[in-house]
Amino acid sequence: MNDPQPNWIARRSAATTDMYDRAVQAGLTGHTITRRSGKTVRLDDGHECVEFVSCSYLGLEDHPRLTQAVRTALDTYGTHFSSSRNSVQPAEAHTLEELLGEIYPGMSALVFNSVSSVHLGVLPLLGAGVLPGYPIGPGGVLFVIERTAHASMQALRGVLEQAGPAVRFRAEEPATLTAAMDLAREQGRTPVILVDGIGSMGGLVDVRSLADTAAELGGYVYIDDAHGISISGPAGAGYAFEALGGHVPRSVLLVGSLSKAFGGSGGFLLTHDPADVTLLRREANPMVFGHSNMVTHMLVNAESARMHLDGTVTELQEALWANTELFDKVNSGNQLVNAGTRSPVRGLAMDTEEAAFDGAVRLRRAGILCFPVFYPVVAQGTGLLRFALSSRHTPEQIQAVADVLADR
Ligand SMILES: Cc1ncc(COP(=O)(O)O)c(C=O)c1O
Repeated sequence: MNDPQPNWIARRSAATTDMYDRAVQAGLTGHTITRRSGKTVRLDDGHECVEFVSCSYLGLEDHPRLTQAVRTALDTYGTHFSSSRNSVQPAEAHTLEELLGEIYPGMSALVFNSVSSVHLGVLPLLGAGVLPGYPIGPGGVLFVIERTAHASMQALRGVLEQAGPAVRFRAEEPATLTAAMDLAREQGRTPVILVDGIGSMGGLVDVRSLADTAAELGGYVYIDDAHGISISGPAGAGYAFEALGGHVPRSVLLVGSLSKAFGGSGGFLLTHDPADVTLLRREANPMVFGHSNMVTHMLVNAESARMHLDGTVTELQEALWANTELFDKVNSGNQLVNAGTRSPVRGLAMDTEEAAFDGAVRLRRAGILCFPVFYPVVAQGTGLLRFALSSRHTPEQIQAVADVLADR
């Protein structure tokens, strides 16, 4: 018998409307840009707009030290050295990992070419119980996935289930986590909780209490803090590191992005045991079977790491938090998602997709680009206008958003 909706991918596709396509056609998203200067971008139709879309929350990407790093890379290596990462890599790849070890004292860092590659490389080996620093008990693993954890982890569920079962919980409903922990206890399994640090669309996860909960059962919490890196914490170590008390507990595997506020490209894992790095370099799928990060990216990443350590990033953090405060103040009439929090993301939740579409149209007419999102990024039938704030936005640009939103 043919099941009309045989799996979750088909169900998700069936529930997705054409809203994204309509938004592209209406010039609200899917933009093509031909130039940018600070937060102003020129679109291919010649219009100049102010964008609240880029996740480069500290505006590092055109910093003279980073653009110079690209030139140095080109002069030294050309654009790329095409090999698997564990076969040949530039000296700066080692430098970067050492510098990350200074930003996160006592930790060993391993850099991948994306955060998704970190997940794909690390999680199956973690679940299989072969990482020396994160042993799994004889009963095997239980993956416990937070419902809003990033799609790059959720999509691996079928892969993870080859190592052990996976269940989901909701951070805002503690009983669901308790049920998952009870299940781990009953079945004698080691729980591995998967969460974001700062959610890409939502709020801040209480990573500290999750680390404690996992530790009680000898388990782990695997934190994807892609959006939290650089924007806070000493030397830009990030949201989760700061929330964990300025260190990485033994029960935590911390993952970060180099492609957002960091100003470069790639993803990294921090582990307590250098033997994990040895194993992952040898066995993690994207390390063995994938190409390396471009050399231009690696030199940029290494220079940005130096800017984290020499205090440059701390000054930019202050400008970012001043801007988020101003954004909240001028928008106090709207119930913004994340208002008052140390997240660089704000959202205006809408009851319907049409309402989000209309809001994005009004902003676009005023020369402002936000990121309108629909299902499956947010709940079915609803919409959200997502605003990514940066240290580079001016007070006038922030006020302009408030003027449009006030005019609803
Ligand atoms: C929280 C989070 N994790 C992972 C990713 C995927 O990052 P990458 O493109 O480096 O794989 C993203 C992408 O935006 C993200 O927001």
